Amino acid sequence: MTEQDFILKSYNLNTESGSVKWSSPSNIALVKYWGKKEHQIPENPSISFTLSDCKTITEVTYTKKADNNFSFDVYFEGEKNEAFKPKIQTFFERIEAYIPFLRDYHFKIDTSNTFPHSSGIASSASGMSAIALCLMSIEEKLTNTVTSSTVEKSYFNQKASFIARLGSGSACRSIEGELVVWGENKSTDSSDLFGVRFDGEVHANFQDYQDAILLVDKGEKQVSSTVGHKLMFGHPFAEERFSQAHDNLAKIKEILASGDLKAFVKIVESEALTLHAMMMTSMPYFILMKPNTLEIINKIWEYRAKNNSNICFTLDAGANVHVLFPKAEKQQVYEFIKSELVAYCQNGHYICDSVGKGAKRL
Ligand code: DP6
Repeated sequence: MTEQDFILKSYNLNTESGSVKWSSPSNIALVKYWGKKEHQIPENPSISFTLSDCKTITEVTYTKKADNNFSFDVYFEGEKNEAFKPKIQTFFERIEAYIPFLRDYHFKIDTSNTFPHSSGIASSASGMSAIALCLMSIEEKLTNTVTSSTVEKSYFNQKASFIARLGSGSACRSIEGELVVWGENKSTDSSDLFGVRFDGEVHANFQDYQDAILLVDKGEKQVSSTVGHKLMFGHPFAEERFSQAHDNLAKIKEILASGDLKAFVKIVESEALTLHAMMMTSMPYFILMKPNTLEIINKIWEYRAKNNSNICFTLDAGANVHVLFPKAEKQQVYEFIKSELVAYCQNGHYICDSVGKGAKRL
């Protein structure tokens, strides 16, 4: 597949108006995407667990109009939201070549998250993928396509992921479940242009994997992911890091097949700390972890050693801690979280989630 394959060449404007609705999940990377080239092409491959309960629900209502401008309104949790508009404007500009009907309709984008507002959880992955899916359903309508065959479904998902990527890189991993790979590499079937379901074997140990998201800091990040990615240009350790991600993807593929939980823990934690090490060693440098992030990490290490547990942590570009563990340990780990980790969460807040199957049309 190339970019050309995603250009919509003909469609009809017989539809005056309509509405579509999707729910799309967040995802948590095991091997991290950090650093990108032009047009949202990743510098290295990444793999993530799709989440189940942390989702964005978006309804797009479209109404035919006469002028040739972009026209849209955004509502967040029922209220008109001006703050999201510039991001959507940029997104529309990037995807216009592939979704040409953007100028033919006025769009009302009504969106809400299942996770608390300003929880510090990145909503760009679920948010951008939800809009991309809505636009794909409109494309289906304007081309009279009934997506029923496997080939059509696969094109629908690939293009949705391709469009989502242009909104936010990690969003391309939110269309399908349960493990998704993005970025060309030697170990898996993959593309730089869109995320694909991991095609390797997955051991029962990794079925229904759990993710407890500990909300350490719900404030606005000092440095956005987009700025962080840019700081990988000219970063002294960039090339080493990109090649390490290729190696880690190859290793994690083997681990997912063998069910080796101890090896999984090592790669996942190393990836999280490497991500933050890249931030700390860029110029300008920055730190997104907070003191409580480190407190939690140390507690997790103590607990793991004492109980021979397979609990581990990962981080995205923020201070919150994703605590990952096999379903078999669910009860004990939640007791540990309640008794020892909640104290480090802002207002005691955490979210219980697990691996999910991907986006759903509502
Ligand atoms: C640290 O996808 O938010 O979560 O492409 O600029 O929108 P943009 O960045 P974004 O980067 C997130 C990176 C990460 C790691 C990951 O999800 O792989």
